Amino acid sequence: MMISERVKQVAPSQTLELNKKVAEGRAEGRNIIALNSGEPDFNTPAPIIEAAHRAMLDGKTKYTEARGTLALREAIASKLKNDNRIAYTPDDVIVTTGAKFALFAGLLALCNPGDEVIVSKPCWVSYVEMIRLAEAVPVTVPVNSDWSLDTDAIEAAVTAKTRVIIINSPNNPTGAVYSEDSLRRVADIVERHNLFLISDEVYEKLKYTDKPHVSLAAFSEDIKKRTLTVNGFSKTYAMTGWRVGYAAGPRDVIRSMSTIQSHATSNVATFSQWAAIEAFRSCDVHVEYMRKTFEERRDYAYGRLQRLPGVHCTLPEGAFYLFPDVSGLFGKSDNGRVIVDAPAFAEYLLDTADVALVPGNAFESPEGIRLSYAVSMETLIDAMDRIEAAVYRLK
Ligand SMILES: Cc1ncc(COP(=O)(O)O)c(C=O)c1O
Repeated sequence: MMISERVKQVAPSQTLELNKKVAEGRAEGRNIIALNSGEPDFNTPAPIIEAAHRAMLDGKTKYTEARGTLALREAIASKLKNDNRIAYTPDDVIVTTGAKFALFAGLLALCNPGDEVIVSKPCWVSYVEMIRLAEAVPVTVPVNSDWSLDTDAIEAAVTAKTRVIIINSPNNPTGAVYSEDSLRRVADIVERHNLFLISDEVYEKLKYTDKPHVSLAAFSEDIKKRTLTVNGFSKTYAMTGWRVGYAAGPRDVIRSMSTIQSHATSNVATFSQWAAIEAFRSCDVHVEYMRKTFEERRDYAYGRLQRLPGVHCTLPEGAFYLFPDVSGLFGKSDNGRVIVDAPAFAEYLLDTADVALVPGNAFESPEGIRLSYAVSMETLIDAMDRIEAAVYRLK
């Protein structure tokens, strides 16, 4: 087939591939526990579903402006003002098909072929591939061993070709919430080297620390002019399937993203946009319930992982993932099956314990493995029992 060079160099999403394996195993009748998923297990809160239903009955089923309805863009602008202390007008905001398309359209709008984009690793699977799709070059820079940003390494990675730095806090997969101090240093690098920032804040509300969530665009007018703030409803409101995300930033960047979106996807489903307004309006209590529940699960799973030999885990402060270093298990074996690396360990767990985790290679970090605790406590206990037994079988 005549597949373009652009696409040939891009790997399919490893997390979505793993979902396929889990579905196939389940279809064969296996009781697989999926801790590989990046979505809350909760149902979307009822008021949001009711708002979508009402919107559909009211005829909100036609196209909207490609960049999203004025009503939702206004609601997003006030959210950003109240929660994040960034002043945007609705014209500085675009509603996108999930935060994912905000990030992709942002990269397409900002990068010329060959431009470099710096991302700290471990990092979310899609950044690197999106950067490649935009014909730019990903430059990944390791974080420190405690998952904090290594701002010296970020600055050392800047070249004449660097265009954008992507920051994701709270982070997927590490759960790190970056300190204000380190983010100020990143902002300083961006200003001094005349760069642009993409701040992915989709896990903003899922935080288990007193450390504040810091939005980079709030630092100063100058940094605001150089920042695209990206967020969405998927993680905060358990709305992954509704596909509503957004970005706010300099008007020319938002306008370019709207042009891309108008040709690539058009508007986000109209009733999803109306439902999103309801999420902002009435669902704080649901968000707090989910946050607390995630925190209990994090504490439980972290406690269990910490006791496992060969596994080293840093306590995550946000999101809903644990990202233990499992390199202490490499070289061990069970029944002649040698754990050579993280993918081999993930395969071993899936084959022998029916538990699906994502190997760290997917996050540019081959020593780790990502465990999502977005499952019920009962399922999590079962999963941890299975993982523990599998690890103890390794000699
Ligand atoms: C760090 C990060 N950013 C963005 C997204 C995209 O979320 P969505 O497109 O569902 O809003 C995800 C989803 O996994 C994520 O983990």
